[in-house]
Amino acid sequence: MKPIGPLMVEHRLIERMIVIVKEELKNIDRGKKADPFFIDTYVDFARTYADRCHHGKEEDILFRDLAKKKLSPEHRKTMDELVEEHKYARKTVGELVSAKDRYVQGNMDALKDITTRLAALAEFYPKHIEKEDKRFFFPILDYFTKQEQDAMLQEFWEFDRKLIHEKYQQVVEKLTRK
Ligand SMILES: [Fe+2]
Ligand SMILES: [Fe+2]
Repeated sequence: MKPIGPLMVEHRLIERMIVIVKEELKNIDRGKKADPFFIDTYVDFARTYADRCHHGKEEDILFRDLAKKKLSPEHRKTMDELVEEHKYARKTVGELVSAKDRYVQGNMDALKDITTRLAALAEFYPKHIEKEDKRFFFPILDYFTKQEQDAMLQEFWEFDRKLIHEKYQQVVEKLTRK
């Protein structure tokens, strides 16, 4: 398997989540209310899976190794854009959390902020994924030897192996500090 294999599999799950987010946006529009439990579940997915697990492998391993290569200006530019887009997703998820917190405290104006952030993420991910899948992942594989690709795939598996431990280590740390 090529190292982009697991990343593309992860894209498919993120896309499925975006379909659910779009359905939830319709529910919010119909009922004029948000479901804080749904938002908590989505935020956990966005932070742990889409950001830490998925963007983490892209940035900490693939882009890190790619940055050491002599990239074409076009590939360098696309990689920089992808990193910026990850930052945008992180920021938007943070804004969603703060809107949900205000909503739970009874601020009904926060409902609009919840919908704009959910809609922004639903619009963002398909485009970001298409850019990676269709215009970046395959061409950039050529910068790596077969051996380098195999090593990267191994590092991906190792990254994933540690993730569940990291996640729950943080849960306990956070509760300890309370
Ligand atoms: Fe990405
Ligand atoms: Fe991605």
